[in-house]
Amino acid sequence: MRVIAIVNQKGGCGKTTTAVNLAGCLAADGGRVLVVDLDPQAHSTLGLGIDPEALDENLYEVLAEPGGEARLADVIVTASENLDVAPSGIVLSALEQKLAALPVEARTERVAAALEQVGDAYDYVLIDCPPNVGLLTFNALRAAGEVIVPLETSPFAIHGVEKLLETIGLLVERVGHELAVRVLPTLYDGRTRYARETLARIRERFKDMCFDTVIRANVKLREAAARGVPITAWARSANGAIDYGALAVEVEALGLLAPGLAPRDEVPREVVVQFRDDAASDVRIAGDFNGWIPDKGVRSLIESEGDTRVWTKILQLSPGTYQYRYVVDGEWREDPDNPQGAFSGAIRNSLLVVR
Ligand SMILES: Nc1ncnc2c1ncn2[C@@H]1O[C@H](COP(=O)(O)OP(=O)(O)OP(=O)(O)O)[C@@H](O)[C@H]1O
Ligand SMILES: [Mg+2]
Repeated sequence: MRVIAIVNQKGGCGKTTTAVNLAGCLAADGGRVLVVDLDPQAHSTLGLGIDPEALDENLYEVLAEPGGEARLADVIVTASENLDVAPSGIVLSALEQKLAALPVEARTERVAAALEQVGDAYDYVLIDCPPNVGLLTFNALRAAGEVIVPLETSPFAIHGVEKLLETIGLLVERVGHELAVRVLPTLYDGRTRYARETLARIRERFKDMCFDTVIRANVKLREAAARGVPITAWARSANGAIDYGALAVEVEALGLLAPGLAPRDEVPREVVVQFRDDAASDVRIAGDFNGWIPDKGVRSLIESEGDTRVWTKILQLSPGTYQYRYVVDGEWREDPDNPQGAFSGAIRNSLLVVR
């Protein structure tokens, strides 16, 4: 289960639009998706066709009382196939105060505790945050492994984001877990020079932290929101559907980078794999065991067998199932000697089972 918080303290930058439409596209691709609406404005609840006023209970019941997390499954509503919502309501605005009265450690734990209850019922949990960095947003960050920061391609957007990244950095220190943070340029109008320049600056500033996908300004996204459906259900061929479809593919592929997929509780053992090639000059290995960082934590030996060079990679792995690929002169490849593979989105990785 990947938990992705959608965060930016700036209002109107596309958080809710991203939560609803990325969810729609991931669900259309067959992922089981839960949108957690942490914003008292309840825009993503409305955007998925659910009237918050018509509900007897919502996330407030789950988050307000200790032990309330057991009720998450009761408040979840199905919006469409593969797509559920944990709905918000205006009462959520009272939650910040309530949480502030708790001991420091307990204040930011409520959402994480609730998500533990739904276990592996979902492939993706997308948390739509309010436009501030209060306790609700902290709760989202505490529960998440990944963060998407939608960033409007407009004059002052970058300034605010530096502050936000600083805040996220502080939180990571406090909670002691990694957060993969990525910036998503939104509301892009390529006809204006200003937007093109801002996009170039965003890319230069954030480099690999920036998604390749850019979300263009597209009126069909507003129309879909007004109708309470993801754009895929309203205008499948509109730019907004194409852009969020591309984002979904990128997010699915990034699943490869998510750490912590393999069990690590048992004693690690030495596992040896070999790669043979006549032409390659640099061979590394990357997998879910090393956060997909080529050769991280791996011992390497290089020998020659006639014209063939043999790369031996020595891994320390606990029993479990792992996915990996070789990086041969910078190109990612499956292990040619290993018939076992597994798909992660559209990408096939080699599979290694350690007993
Ligand atoms: N790519 C886009 N093209 C056109 N309109 C968009 C796009 N993205 C968002 N909008 C519109 O801009 C407005 C603000 O977007 P959205 O609600 O997603 O922002 P937000 O960051 O969630 O705002 P808030 O901080 O208030 O929660 C909405 O009316 C939405 O329909
Ligand atoms: Mg919003």
